[in-house]
Amino acid sequence: MTENRKQKTENHLTTIAALGSHVGQVVTLQGWVYHLRSSGKVRFIVVRDGTGLAQAVLVKGRVPEEDFENFGRLTLESSLILDGQVRADARAPGGYELEVTRLQPVHIAQEYPIAPKEHGVGFLLDHRHLWLRSPRQQAILRVRDEVSRACRDYFHDRGFVLIDTPILTPTACEGTTNLFETNYLDRGKAYLSQSGQLYLEAAAMALGKVYCFGPTFRAEKSKTRRHLMEFWMVEAEAAFYALGEVMVLAEGLVRFIIQRVLEHRGADLETLERDPGPLKTAGAGPFPRISYSEALQRLQSQGLEVPWGEDFGGDEETVLSRMFDRPVLVHRYPRSCKAFYMEADPEDPRLALCVDMLAPEGYGEIVGGSQRVADLDVLLNRVAEHHLPPEPLEWYLDLRRYGSVPHGGFGLGIERVVAWLCGLHHVREAIPFPRLLDRLYP
Ligand code: 4AD
Ligand code: MG
Repeated sequence: MTENRKQKTENHLTTIAALGSHVGQVVTLQGWVYHLRSSGKVRFIVVRDGTGLAQAVLVKGRVPEEDFENFGRLTLESSLILDGQVRADARAPGGYELEVTRLQPVHIAQEYPIAPKEHGVGFLLDHRHLWLRSPRQQAILRVRDEVSRACRDYFHDRGFVLIDTPILTPTACEGTTNLFETNYLDRGKAYLSQSGQLYLEAAAMALGKVYCFGPTFRAEKSKTRRHLMEFWMVEAEAAFYALGEVMVLAEGLVRFIIQRVLEHRGADLETLERDPGPLKTAGAGPFPRISYSEALQRLQSQGLEVPWGEDFGGDEETVLSRMFDRPVLVHRYPRSCKAFYMEADPEDPRLALCVDMLAPEGYGEIVGGSQRVADLDVLLNRVAEHHLPPEPLEWYLDLRRYGSVPHGGFGLGIERVVAWLCGLHHVREAIPFPRLLDRLYP
């Protein structure tokens, strides 16, 4: 039932976040009921409007009788329009109160399924479309927004050009085991992009410094707290960059993101009960750098035996990332456990010129990057070794035929970074509608 009673008002339409600049004035707020309470002749509505929470007070005799009666019809999450005078009140949530002069319900909500009591995470995920309304989830989404904007600003300020890479692709980028397959009408199979990197390399040969920012897909058969089937990645690629420059660029980005979140989203971190201390330390840098072999020794000293040549799993990353109070750059993994496109280390060709950045506090890998193979024959051998079909990669091989240069870049997983900055246990809360092994709804 939508009530068509919205009347024109002379009052200034504002938001809860902006109440502070309207003390003493009569304003209009539009929002939803977060909490209701009565006491004698006074009625209290805690209203939310997406920018914050504010208490609205209705005193019998000071609002039209009909509006006072309408309070009794309100339920949690009913939508409404309120007119009232703004008062500063240190005890009120948010610091301001609205003394209501008009209350107009817009829609009376049915019984709201999410009560303030504890719900299991399965129930909350089934109601993700409503769960987003909770203050905690709103805070996470605002941090995510800040992280995304910081990424764009960082690259834009440094002369990187945004390139939108395709989602439907004819080939794999990050190995063939977790590809999402789809039918491309009469042309056979297509795959959802695992990474925009290969296309970004082409664009880097055109524009020098480029980045992409979009959804990527991995049919991950694992149910870890770090894996999504669909996640957002920001990737950078630059011509004439070697591994060292890739590491500097990636460290700069992560420090920039941290500083921006601390600067602009402090209130949200507070809502999340996230201690900003460790983030301040991390943001100050510099980030330590260790080689894969040093990482192996460090793991061994903690009783974790990883055979040389194998990649680190979640447990190893957790242990390594707890050894530092800021992100650590682990470089030069064995080529055997990394992607086909990585350049070999001229000092030891068993190693790749690559880097993973592990976030502290046990969060693990947030960035993966490398210098890329620049030579055509080397790349042809790699394609064969990895049993990749060469035909759909012809265009990628062309980049090594026409003015090939050393180049490199990295990808940063947005949800992993948001989970770390917000102190979340699982990446599923870091994306509005998570796609998990056992979840495609809502
Ligand atoms: O290490 P990855 O696989 O690297 C690439 O895709 C490169 N092509 C990037 C590049 O050099 N342009 O993925 C990069 C980052 C990881 O460090 C992690 O943060 C995130 O993407 N990531 C995931 N996040 C959530 N769920 C998953 N299943 C993820 N897989 C990777
Ligand atoms: Mg990786």
